[in-house]
Formats: sequence, C-alpha cells, structure tokens
Amino acid sequence: MKVELNDMKGKTILVTGCAGFIGSHLSEKLLSLGYKVIGVDNFDPFYSIDLKMENMEGFKRNKAFKFYQLDLCQSGSLNLIQEEISLIAHLAGKAGVRPSILDPQSYIDSNISATRNILDFMQKKGIQKLAFASSSSVYGNNPIVPFTEDQNVDNVISPYAFSKKSCEILNHSYHHLYDLDIINMRFFTVFGPRQRPDLAINKFVKLIYNNEPIPMFGDGSTARDYTFVDDTVDGIVKTCEYLFANHSVFNTINLGNSYPIKLSTMIEVIAKNCAVIPIIKQLPMQAGDVEQTYADISKARGLIGYNPKVSFDEGIVRFVKWFTQKNQLVVLHN
Ligand SMILES: NC(=O)c1ccc[n+]([C@@H]2O[C@H](COP(=O)([O-])OP(=O)(O)OC[C@H]3O[C@@H](n4cnc5c(N)ncnc54)[C@H](O)[C@@H]3O)[C@@H](O)[C@H]2O)c1
Repeated sequence: MKVELNDMKGKTILVTGCAGFIGSHLSEKLLSLGYKVIGVDNFDPFYSIDLKMENMEGFKRNKAFKFYQLDLCQSGSLNLIQEEISLIAHLAGKAGVRPSILDPQSYIDSNISATRNILDFMQKKGIQKLAFASSSSVYGNNPIVPFTEDQNVDNVISPYAFSKKSCEILNHSYHHLYDLDIINMRFFTVFGPRQRPDLAINKFVKLIYNNEPIPMFGDGSTARDYTFVDDTVDGIVKTCEYLFANHSVFNTINLGNSYPIKLSTMIEVIAKNCAVIPIIKQLPMQAGDVEQTYADISKARGLIGYNPKVSFDEGIVRFVKWFTQKNQLVVLHN
C-alpha cells in the first residue's frame, strides 16, 4: 500500500544513530519527505566526533528536527524523550567486523543491550513500529549465493555478526510478547558520501590521494554486494511506509544491490576514477572477514517495492566527487 505524503505530516520518527553515516542520510531524507525527526546519538568515539557533527550539518537546524545526545546502553536514557513517536528507525550501534574481535563486550553493550533498551522503551511508551538495522554479516561464510532471508544464519564468524543476529532474535521475542511491528533490514556494505572512514572505499580513495599503497587483504577475490547509500535509505523509507500501512508484522529483508564486486575490481574502478595506477600491498585475509556477500533482493522488492538504482561505477563517481570537494582536492580524473 502506498502512503500519501499527507499521511506523513505529523508523524514523528525517532532515528537512532542520526549522526552516523547512514543515519544522517536517513534523517535528511525523512525531513525532506515531511516527517518530523527526533535524532539520538551518543557520538561514539569509534571515529571522529567532528565528522559526526559535520554529518548533521545539513539538517540539525531544521525546525522539524530535534536532537538528543544519549547513550542507548544506559537503561532509562530514552525516558528524557517526551515527544510522541510513531516509529523508531534503530540504526545506532557499533559497526565494523574487525574492531568487534578486539572489543566484543562493547558490541554486546551498544548493539544488544541498546536494542533491548529500545524495545523496552517502545513497550512502555506504546510505540508500535521498529525498523532495525541488521547486517549481511549474519550470513557468515554461507556458500549458497545469493543469500536469501530463509537461509540458516547460525554460523556467524564475528562478534559483530553475532550481535546483529542476536538483535534480530530479540526483536522477534518482543514482537511475539507485545505485538510490536518489526522489520529487520540486512544492509550490504553501504557506500557513498559521508561513508565511515574505516570502510574500504573511503580509506582507499584517501590513500590514493596521499600516494600511499592500498592494503589488499587476500588475493582480491573476496566480493561485496556494495549498495549506494541513497538506495539503502530508499529501502529504509519504504520499510517505514510498509510498517505504517500494516499490522502484526515481523519480517527480515535484504537491502543489498544483488551485484557483488570483487575487491580487485573495486580497487580498479576507484583507481580509474582517480586516474592513477594503484600501488597495491597484498596482505593476508583478516579474521572475521567473510569471503563474499551477495543479496537476493526479491523478497524486499515484493514486500516493500525496494528497487536499488545506482550502479557500483556510478556510486564510485559520486563518492570521488564528494571526497574531492570536501577535501578541496584537485580532481585527478577529468
Ligand atoms: N555501513 C554499512 O555498510 C553497514 C552494513 C550493515 C549494517 N550496518 C548497520 O547500520 C547501522 C548504521 O551504520 P553506519 O555505517 O551509519 O555506522 P556509523 O558508525 O556511522 O553510525 C552509527 C551511529 O550510532 C551511534 N551510536 C553507537 N553506539 C551508540 C549508543 N550506545 N547510543 C547512541 N548512539 C550510538 C554512533 O555514534 C554513530 O553515529 C549500524 O547499526 C551498522 O551496524 C551498516
């Protein structure tokens, strides 16, 4: 069912992780569609707080936006929020596979405990709808591709993936007990302007502009189903619309691109766009990294009308443009 713009007016969506990469794009989009947005973030020091402040620059003064700096790990922290909320888009959390191996407890706190606090808050306040940011990492090294949502995902290979899978299960228990409407959205390596600085594309473009070698973990054959952030955000918005239009919902969907790109190809495309021959430093595969991710998106297409549009090459063009403008660099490519 399509929700008309008029229906959105007056609806307030709580976006957790609003200062992060995806959360800032989502907040901006929801505001542009006429929703009111309550943003929550704790400016987790995983990467620069300045970058997170910058992420909110485009919308933090919007009259339909209100920000709360809260740590969702603290139970009761959400009680400060007095506004009436129609839906929570819960994107806050600790992202990243490799750091989760070094500090698994913080992933249990910021992902699992924080999600439990969100669910308790919903139950107490009578908030019915939750769109939850899960991850393709739950598929682990499942050899059957493309990944479908009905596959067994018990064989995760990192604490990060464990935390996301745990949240999906926790969400189900609250759906069952309190009839909350919940969709777990499994994102697949999201990229685009404002991408987290720890993620490969952002890191590699920076290294190229600094004339430094690009670390290639493994032989370059690992593959990721890179998804441009506008497509992910469109998928989240469609998930919210679906949740508004339906009741007694519990579901899990892949929000990928269904077009895996090898690491070696990714480096080639970036280098072509920066008009350089890359210096590659081959290193061993890193613990916790999966061989490939590849989403079957037919379920999301059918359920919410998800339809990613930006190809990997086009996404890289847009990323490099953003990167060079932000850093006031001379575009190597012309
Ligand atoms: N970027 C991707 O490719 C990708 C892929 C799969 C899943 N995800 C998930 O999507 C969500 C957003 O990812 P992102 O790339 O935008 O990450 P991000 O780190 O840029 O954003 C997450 C935000 O959550 C905030 N946060 C962390 N712990 C918090 C806490 N305890 N209380 C309040 N705020 C807290 C951080 O400060 C940050 O601003 C995350 O849950 C991530 O696990 C991302």
